[in-house]
Amino acid sequence: MFDRHVYLIGMPGSGKSSLGKRVAGNLHLPYIDMDKRLQECFGMTVVDIFAKHGEEAFRTSETNLLIEMTREPASVISTGGGSVMNPENVRIMKASGLLVLVDRPLDQILGDIKLDRRPTLAEKGLGEVERVYKERYDTYHGVADIILDNSKGFYPGVEELERIIRLRFGLYVI
Ligand code: S3P
Repeated sequence: MFDRHVYLIGMPGSGKSSLGKRVAGNLHLPYIDMDKRLQECFGMTVVDIFAKHGEEAFRTSETNLLIEMTREPASVISTGGGSVMNPENVRIMKASGLLVLVDRPLDQILGDIKLDRRPTLAEKGLGEVERVYKERYDTYHGVADIILDNSKGFYPGVEELERIIRLRFGLYVI
């Protein structure tokens, strides 16, 4: 198969987890959702991790998980939206895989994002989503190896991500 991870990066609500899970399943690749892994490690939800341990503990664990995952078989990995804001995390990802930006327009994200599971956004609401989108836009685009246009809905997004992974890693292209 291939020997490097595919890291899905991008805004909360951009579709990293839904696309990653589906495409990994279709291509028979291992799939890792970083937030879910961290929840399992802490034995609580991301909201509770932030409330009980603070954002710094969450961010440190995020970096430790990235290091840990470099020793795992090549996987499709949905990262937390804030992970690439730390240059050390980007360094680890670049050294161990391909960074695919799941790029979804702000108005679509605002239309269906679930805020209750997202402690950095929940209190301040949709205005905060817009602020974070603008704040991170250049970083997301600057660190990405490939930009996946996820503006056309779920199935076109699945097709596009499969195409990217197949082409990049020399899998059979249909
Ligand atoms: C965060 C995004 C979340 C999660 C945490 C912080 C962020 O992941 O890691 O709530 O700073 O953008 P998603 O991108 O899956 O929502």
